[in-house]
Amino acid sequence: MKITDTSDLWWKSAVIYCLDVETYLDSDGDGIGDFTGLARRIDYLADLGVTCLWLMPFYPTPDRDDGYDISDFYGVDPRLGSHGDVVEVIRTAHDRGMRVIVDLVVNHTSDAHPWFVSARRSRNSPYRDFYVWRDEPPRHQQPTVFPGEEATVWELDERSGQYFQHVFYKHQPDLNIANPRVRDEIAKTIGFWLALGVNGFRIDAVPFLIEPPEGVDLGDPHELLRDIKRFLQRRVGDAALLGEVNLPFAEQLDFFGGPRGGELDLQFDFVSMQALYLSLARSDPAPLADALRSRPVIPSEATWANFVRNHDELTLDKLSDAEREEVFEAFAPDEAQRVYGRGITRRLPPMLAGDPRRVRMVYSLMFSLPGTPVLFYGEEIGMGENPEITGRQAVRTPMQWSDERNGGFSTAPPSRLVAPPPSDGYAPAHVNVRQQRTDDDSLLLFIRRLIGRYRASPEIGWGSLEILDHDAAGVLAHAVDSELGRMILLHNFTDAPVALRLDIGAQEEGTRLIDLDRPERVPVGAERRIDVELPAYGHRWLRVSPPGDTRIG
Ligand code: GLC
Repeated sequence: MKITDTSDLWWKSAVIYCLDVETYLDSDGDGIGDFTGLARRIDYLADLGVTCLWLMPFYPTPDRDDGYDISDFYGVDPRLGSHGDVVEVIRTAHDRGMRVIVDLVVNHTSDAHPWFVSARRSRNSPYRDFYVWRDEPPRHQQPTVFPGEEATVWELDERSGQYFQHVFYKHQPDLNIANPRVRDEIAKTIGFWLALGVNGFRIDAVPFLIEPPEGVDLGDPHELLRDIKRFLQRRVGDAALLGEVNLPFAEQLDFFGGPRGGELDLQFDFVSMQALYLSLARSDPAPLADALRSRPVIPSEATWANFVRNHDELTLDKLSDAEREEVFEAFAPDEAQRVYGRGITRRLPPMLAGDPRRVRMVYSLMFSLPGTPVLFYGEEIGMGENPEITGRQAVRTPMQWSDERNGGFSTAPPSRLVAPPPSDGYAPAHVNVRQQRTDDDSLLLFIRRLIGRYRASPEIGWGSLEILDHDAAGVLAHAVDSELGRMILLHNFTDAPVALRLDIGAQEEGTRLIDLDRPERVPVGAERRIDVELPAYGHRWLRVSPPGDTRIG
């Protein structure tokens, strides 16, 4: 595809920032973050360089799965604000050049959703067929997503005498996508939020969503996703779909719609994320390099969403048992830091023993891989989890704005906060925005510079990836290439400085190499080889600058 304007497919080089309104900023002192609070932080986010906000579920909810249990797809949780407040946030974000995507959680509803309340009232309810019912659970049952918390995915509804399906919690009955009325509601929900100005959706649990109920043949299940994408595009041409698809690469390709596209625009790269932690545990980039090499070729309009942490457990389900054990031992030695037998409930800096060199190397790497980086709120200042909270909630503590009470998140008495901030070395007294914004050596300013650099280097988002061979085992060297240019990116996974010799390929006479951290431009000799040094956990971004290149950096 000829690249004319990189903003045409904005999601290929966006900087996405995920936040939960509930834990971001509380404007009215009730202990719960709200849209009015978020509106006051839009300038902070724009200043950071974020180009797209991802708002986690803010819909009415009994809040038994942190808002992923929704009781009205068209509503706003009154604790967080009103539709008017949502529109104000969207408008303000747009004014600052930021797009907004929202969570679309339509695999299931809350059991408090009026559809389900009606459905379970009687077998004749007009909403009965919105859900999946069976007289007996099928013989082949899929395993629950939450082992230890749920035993099965079928729950007996005593009153109507049938079982309903729930791949997540039993209070989250699965919607029946074989029912055309359910599909209409999904489309209407999308249409509704688009009409309020959102620019796309992060679709929750996509493989579960499109899977037809046991024994029902709907033809190709991907047709549902293609329908959603077509509908979206008819309504708003450049709206995007970011999907949560934690599957092996080959299957992920299908969720992009195969090589020709037409389904999801972005998918999280769970495979490389998990390999990254194995690489970190071993101080050896090889597992990550292998994962990156096996990334399938995806449609040119689509891209990977690169992330190192999110709001869920750090899942390690794609590693072998032995590999997972290695990562557990390195980063979650205490059983209480693990969950579901597959994941870690910590944020990145505590896992890396707070070593700023290592933390920065990881973020530099995340921003240097083809795709779009996704930050989870608080990562920009190096927030830690609250180790006193068990399970996935440990990483969902309030944003730490200052060293004041409650980290400046809320003026409520601490006992009324939606979640307690950590009280260890990662407490707001030690880790907060106010302190870091004036400290040139802070992680916050490092991430801000990194974002600026990523935004000035669209060849990363648009580029193809090449892992470069060389002789320094602890270093990952990769190149990104597109008609926008070529860059070479180096990351040292070890705690020792290293020197390496790299073959950067044939270059035009007069080509120079620009280290984005340094002013000088180094001519590239005819022999194609360069010698580079990296400090312990160092990272370097080199731009291959052809003769006549007018870029400053
Ligand atoms: C997704 C969300 C997770 C939620 C689940 C059920 O995996 O990321 O937080 O619990 O879906 O909606």
